[in-house]
Amino acid sequence: MCGIVGYIGEDQAAPILLNGLEKLEYRGYDSAGVAVCDGGSIQVEKCKGRLKVLADLIDQGEKIPGTVGIGHTRWATHGKPSDLNSHPHVSGQGKFAVVHNGIIENHLMLKEFLLKQGKQFLSETDTEVVAHLLEYYYQGDVLDAIIQVLHQVEGSYALGILCEDIPDQIFAVRKQSPLIIGLGQHENFIASDIPAILSKTREIYRLENNEIAQIKKDQVMIYDLEKNIVQKERCHIDWDISAAEKGGYEHFMFKEIMEQPKAIADTIQPRIQEGRIVLDDMTLTKEDLEQFRKISIVACGSAYHVGVVAKYVIEKLTRIPVDIDVASEFRYRNPIIDEKVLVIVISQSGETADTLAALHEAKRLGARVLSIVNVVGSAIANESDDVLYTWAGPEISVATTKAYSTQLTVVYLLAVYMADLMGLISRQEYQGYLDDLCHLPGQIEMILKKKDQLQTLASRYFNAKDIFFIGRNIDYAMSLEGSLKLKEISYIHSEAYAAGELKHGTISLIEDGTLVVALATQDTLFEKMMSNVQEVTARGAVVLGLTTEDHPEMEKSATHTFYIPKTNDLMLASLAVIPLQLFAYYVASMKGCDIDKPRNLAKSVTVE
Ligand code: M6R
Repeated sequence: MCGIVGYIGEDQAAPILLNGLEKLEYRGYDSAGVAVCDGGSIQVEKCKGRLKVLADLIDQGEKIPGTVGIGHTRWATHGKPSDLNSHPHVSGQGKFAVVHNGIIENHLMLKEFLLKQGKQFLSETDTEVVAHLLEYYYQGDVLDAIIQVLHQVEGSYALGILCEDIPDQIFAVRKQSPLIIGLGQHENFIASDIPAILSKTREIYRLENNEIAQIKKDQVMIYDLEKNIVQKERCHIDWDISAAEKGGYEHFMFKEIMEQPKAIADTIQPRIQEGRIVLDDMTLTKEDLEQFRKISIVACGSAYHVGVVAKYVIEKLTRIPVDIDVASEFRYRNPIIDEKVLVIVISQSGETADTLAALHEAKRLGARVLSIVNVVGSAIANESDDVLYTWAGPEISVATTKAYSTQLTVVYLLAVYMADLMGLISRQEYQGYLDDLCHLPGQIEMILKKKDQLQTLASRYFNAKDIFFIGRNIDYAMSLEGSLKLKEISYIHSEAYAAGELKHGTISLIEDGTLVVALATQDTLFEKMMSNVQEVTARGAVVLGLTTEDHPEMEKSATHTFYIPKTNDLMLASLAVIPLQLFAYYVASMKGCDIDKPRNLAKSVTVE
C-alpha cells in the first residue's frame, strides 16, 4: 500500500526521495509525489501513475532544489487515483505539506468543521484534513500543532510533515501504520519500510504509536503526546542489501522462490540446538498448553492458507482442536474466545489491518496471542504475547513465496515443540520430525532443479481461461495456495476445491480441455484422489498430477505428472507448494504480466 520517504541532509532531496520511493514500489501504488523545502516555500510535484511519470516530470528530481523533503506513493482508498488526490497534500496557505499512510476515519466530520472555518479542499482524500488542521492549530510551534491535531484525528496513520516556517526540519508521527527514522551522518531519513533507506543507512529508530519525531540533519528528537522527550534505542538492520535488490533475476518473485531453501534453513537452524527445538523467547508452558480448550488461527490471504495447513498439523500432533478464520471475518462473527484459547496470528508484514484488528479483538476477549511474523518490530509482533519470527528476509514481490514457506516451517517447529512439551510424541518421533525438517531445504533444491518441466507445462497452458486445483486435507490447503498464486499474478480465473466436494457443484464447470491440477501427495488419500482424477478426466479435463516419487501410478490417470520427493505427510506442503509457485510464475511470465506488482494489489494491506 502507500509508501513514505523523507530526507533531510546536505544533498539534493528530490533524487533521493525518488530513489527511496522506487524501493517501495513493490508495496503497490497508483500515484506518487514529493514536497521539497528550499529554505523558503514548499514546492510540491505529484501525479497519477507510475513513479517514472513523476521522475520524468521533475527531470529525475534535478528540477527541484532543496535538501529537505518528503515523498509518497499512494494506493487509493478515499478518492480515485488522480493528480489532485496524490500526496503530498498542502494546507490552504501552503504552510504545511503532509504525506500519509493509513486512514483518518473521522475525516468527514473534520472536513465539515474545516469547511465552516473557510478552508477549501482540493482533493477527495481523508489526508487533506490533516494539512488543514495543522495550519488551523499552528501558532508558531509545530509540535504543539501536531499534538492538537493528533487529539482530533481517529484512525491509523504514519505522517511525514514539512512546515514552511521551519525549513530545516521534518516531523513524523505514527499510530498503527509503521514508520522508521533512518540515522545517517549529517543526514536523516523517514520511511514506511526499510528497503527505502537501506542503501543510505542501517541504523534506525522504530517510531512507536503516538511518538512524534522532530528531525534535523544532525539531530533526531522524539516526543510523546505530552511533549516529554522519549529516549529511543537504535536498531541495526543487518539485511544484506542484495536481499532487497533483484540481483540479476528478472523478477523478485523468481528470486524469492529460489531463495526458499536458504530462508527455510535460516528459520530452522538457529532453533535446533543440541537436538532440541528452542523457540526464541517462547513463554508458553506445558501447563498453559494443557489448559487451552482450543487454538484459533487468524490470518489473511496466503497466511490464511498456512493456517489451513496448520490446522491439520497442530491437531494431528497435539490433539488440541484448531479453528481457522480469515481475519476480516473473525472480528465480526462474535468468536467464542476467552483466556482458555490460544490465538495464533500469522502475517508476513505484521501490519495487515484486518489481522491486526483480529488480534485486538482476541486480546479484548482475553486470549493469549502468539504471532508468526516476518517483519521485526511490526505492530502485530509488538502487540503479541509471544512472537515467532520467520527469518525470510525482505520479501518484495506482492505474491508471497518465501514468507509463506517460512511460515509453514515455523508451524511445523511449533507443532512438534508443543507435542513434545505435552508428552504426546516419542523421542523417536520427535527426532524423526527434526530430521525431516532439516532435509526440507535440500529437497526443495531438488524440486527447483526441475523448474524447466514447469516452464514447459506453463508454455502449454498459459492461455487457459480457467484452471482448477483439487486436493484432500493438506493437499486441499495447498490447492488454495496454488490457485491464489496463479490468479493473483496471471489473472487467470482459478478455483481450489476439496476434491471430494467437486461433484457437489464445481464439476459442472469441467469441460473438454479444462486444466485441473490434482494434488495427491498424501499416501493415505492417494487412492481417493485417483478416483477424483478419473471423475474429471471422464469429463474431458486435462490433468496435471502432483505426487510423490513413490506414486508412479499417477501417470496412468493424469495427462502430466510432476514428482516431488517424499517426506512425512505433515510436511509435504513445503515441497508441494514449490511447483505450484513456479507454475504460476511461468504462466504469468508467458502472459507478460507485471509479476512483482500485479494490478490492484498491494504488498501490505494496511486498510480494512
Ligand atoms: O502480510 P500478511 O502476511 O499479513 O499478508 C496477508 C495477505 O495479504 C497476503 O498473504 C496476500 O494474500 C499475498 N499477496 C498472497 O501472495
